[in-house]
Amino acid sequence: MELRHLGDSGLVVSAVGLGCNNLGRPGTAAESLAGSRELVSAALAAGVTLFDVADVYGAPRGRSEELLGQALAGRRDQAVIATKFGLDMQGSNGPDFGARGSRRYVRLAAEASLRRLNTDWIDLYQLHRPDPGTPLVETLSALDDLVRDGLVRYAGVCNLAAWQIVDVGWTTRTERVGPMVSTQNHYSLLERAIEREVIPAAQRFAMSVLPYFPLANGLLTGKYARGEAAPDGSRLAGRQRMLADAPWDRIEKLAALAEDRGVDLTTLAIGWLASRPAVGSVIAGATTPDQVSANAKAATWRPSADDLVAIDAISPPPRR
Ligand SMILES: NC(=O)c1ccc[n+]([C@@H]2O[C@H](COP(=O)([O-])OP(=O)(O)OC[C@H]3O[C@@H](n4cnc5c(N)ncnc54)[C@H](OP(=O)(O)O)[C@@H]3O)[C@@H](O)[C@H]2O)c1
Repeated sequence: MELRHLGDSGLVVSAVGLGCNNLGRPGTAAESLAGSRELVSAALAAGVTLFDVADVYGAPRGRSEELLGQALAGRRDQAVIATKFGLDMQGSNGPDFGARGSRRYVRLAAEASLRRLNTDWIDLYQLHRPDPGTPLVETLSALDDLVRDGLVRYAGVCNLAAWQIVDVGWTTRTERVGPMVSTQNHYSLLERAIEREVIPAAQRFAMSVLPYFPLANGLLTGKYARGEAAPDGSRLAGRQRMLADAPWDRIEKLAALAEDRGVDLTTLAIGWLASRPAVGSVIAGATTPDQVSANAKAATWRPSADDLVAIDAISPPPRR
């Protein structure tokens, strides 16, 4: 497994991470602690070090963090835990008074995540969504204080537009608070919009991109087919609208290209993302150990220059 630095920092993570929003998901093998442990064990065995979770994941909220903490018991030092705050926890972190970027709430949320994760430190603490009501510098300096106090090692952001990344970059520099080392955004072979402005902005401010929905909820794994019902127990089972609206022409062409290159669609989707400029780690979600192993292995495939041209012809980059 290739290891990479996030941003211009000493935080080193595997090129493929494990997205942990399935931990505790009803109806999947990851619903139980035993199933979650198997996922985590498969990830560590495959060289995956980055585990991405959020306070809000799971039912009830916080369940995914609890399961990740329990699954990592006795091997916490082998993992880089990335978690998030800033979405509505409906009081589970304590009252937020509608200001989830405030100095008061950021500290409350971090302490609650530390308890659920049963750990003394969070490796990467990410703002899940900007808080428009709180001055940015307050949120950034609250994160910096968490780092200084040893509760958090590094900080990052999610779901920012390019102008917000620039705002964050300039604010950390001019106010002399710690840098944001990463940004999470929706990015896959079916969703390339961030290549236009977000990625150049992230590069300018030395932030790595952590693409989420890298497999488009499973559409880029080859397990769904046009006009056919989703396999029982899969994420899109019962979500007929999403299946019907999927861009099947593109998916089928990408699958044919993968076959022509002697790999499967999952490998094409993950290997391509891992090779994109600024991408730090591809945080693919999974519900079984086999999926975890396949996704980790996919990081060893890299597209050639010819492959990139063929991919662009099917799934074009955004116009500049
Ligand atoms: N920052 C944000 O705002 C944000 C938003 C969304 C997600 N995220 C993060 O990004 C991570 C990834 O997103 P995601 O899990 O929602 O979507 P995803 O990675 O695009 O899709 C994951 C799903 O694809 C299927 N899958 C994965 N590997 C497979 C394989 N090798 N073969 C067959 N099927 C496979 C599994 O579906 P089945 O359930 O059918 O088995 C799995 O649940 C999340 O876990 C989370 O950590 C962040």
